[in-house]
Amino acid sequence: MILGIGVDIVDIQRIKASLERFGGSFASKLFTDHEIAYCEAKAFPAQHYAARFAAKEAFSKAIATGWAGSFRWKDVEVVNDAQGKPSFRLHGPTADQYGARSIMLSLTHTDTSAAAFVIIQE
Ligand SMILES: CC(C)(COP(=O)(O)OP(=O)(O)OC[C@H]1O[C@@H](n2cnc3c(N)ncnc32)[C@H](O)[C@@H]1OP(=O)(O)O)[C@@H](O)C(=O)NCCC(=O)NCCS
Repeated sequence: MILGIGVDIVDIQRIKASLERFGGSFASKLFTDHEIAYCEAKAFPAQHYAARFAAKEAFSKAIATGWAGSFRWKDVEVVNDAQGKPSFRLHGPTADQYGARSIMLSLTHTDTSAAAFVIIQE
């Protein structure tokens, strides 16, 4: 049974501007070391940061509570398998609450926008 869905679209230029303005402090506030290493290894890091930002927002929509409660950016980490397929690795209270659920994530990005779609199943 599907418990929730969430979708989000992010303007890559907005993320790029924040990365340039605030440097590492912006990235390290929102993204785990693993996510930062993944994005920085790519030709256009802002696309991948934006996709991960969209993924965290889409997750917050799928669980219906949004940013209320104990939701923390870095507790919702995006990881990719050997084929590149993304999924969530949850931490902290979010893992306690949703770690046992089946959660599906899909990401996409163009030069200007990144989007994420999330399905949470029982
Ligand atoms: C999956 C695939 C169709 C995406 O192509 P695309 O249109 O260029 O990509 P989009 O811009 O729409 O989406 C990119 C996102 O797709 C996701 N993705 C990549 N590979 C994926 C896969 N095998 N399954 C599901 N999603 C995948 C990633 O989340 C990626 O974003 P990220 O790198 O920031 O995490 C393409 O990469 C493909 O055919 N891959 C096959 C597997 C492969 O060749 N892997 C190579 C590494 S071993």
